[in-house]
Amino acid sequence: MIGKIYGTGSYVPPNVMENDDLANFVETSDEWIKERTGIMRRHIAQEEDMVYMAVKSAERALKNANIIAEEIDFIIVSTISSSVVLPCAACEVQKEIGAVNATCFDLNAACSGFLFAYNTAQAYIASGIYKTGIVIGAEKLSNLIDWKDRGTCILFGDGAGAVVLKAVEGKQFPLITHSEGEKGKALTCWQNDFIHMDGQEVFKFAIKQVPKCICELLEQNHLQKEEIDYFVLHQANRRIVEAVAKRLQVEIEKFPMNLQEYGNTSSASIPILLDEMNHKGIIKRGMRIIISGFGAGLSWGASLVEW
Ligand code: UT7
Repeated sequence: MIGKIYGTGSYVPPNVMENDDLANFVETSDEWIKERTGIMRRHIAQEEDMVYMAVKSAERALKNANIIAEEIDFIIVSTISSSVVLPCAACEVQKEIGAVNATCFDLNAACSGFLFAYNTAQAYIASGIYKTGIVIGAEKLSNLIDWKDRGTCILFGDGAGAVVLKAVEGKQFPLITHSEGEKGKALTCWQNDFIHMDGQEVFKFAIKQVPKCICELLEQNHLQKEEIDYFVLHQANRRIVEAVAKRLQVEIEKFPMNLQEYGNTSSASIPILLDEMNHKGIIKRGMRIIISGFGAGLSWGASLVEW
């Protein structure tokens, strides 16, 4: 069995922070941020907490999938930004949407989190343990940002995205995930502290490992890069996406981006983009998409999605 995406949903807070707004309190400029990252604005949650955004995205994904909440066997929420330790966000989502039959847990793999959660869901489905589930990436990173640190505060935004997966006949594709704890210091967030990042180290890591793991994925699935319709990467920096496209020698048009609007929303970035593409009719049934996440851990990976 394999999990097929039956529906997508997302929620981004209506409150927008432009690059120029940031220039009011840190030494930066719209020009610098746009040139070095591609980001033009980000959405910052006000009253909404991470769970609220996760719930909204799940409700929208269920509606899009035309599946009732009672059918859901599992809910996985990928997040690094919960304001409560217990209960887990997935149980809160369960309660709000009425998915009374679901097994629920959270997963933390930072910006690779959605990818790791998606792969975990596929493993459950492939083994026959569960049939139908929701995978959510939800983040309120604005709580974890040092708004005085121009090296990080310009990058991140808040939001949530979800996919509903349902088992269909088919052989599970090989999935790629990697972790390298030795390099963990490059991107950290201690309790009661903010996100600290060696931007250049993370940048170099991403442009080296992402193309490598995409090639690994293609090889293991006996596919040529030309057979892939879209490469949906974690939305961290436009220059990272461009560098990956260049290294893979694939035209940039196959790498959709929305980081200009939302900034880096960590584990929410891939499902928000998938939802946007789904609703715009850009992705059509039968298309092959590679999703790839990378970030703290360090961790990274890629997965093949047949729409
Ligand atoms: O999702 C998790 C994964 N995270 C990432 O993928 C982030 C990866 N890293 C990056 O995207 C980039 O490294 C950054 C966008 C964070 C930084 O871009 P950069 O091109 O690597 O800049 P830099 O850190 O080398 O800084 C260049 C210059 C420095 O000034 P000097 O030393 O050349 O005088 C910085 O102090 O730019 C300065 N700078 C800024 N200037 C204006 C750093 N941040 C800013 C800023 N505004 N916000």
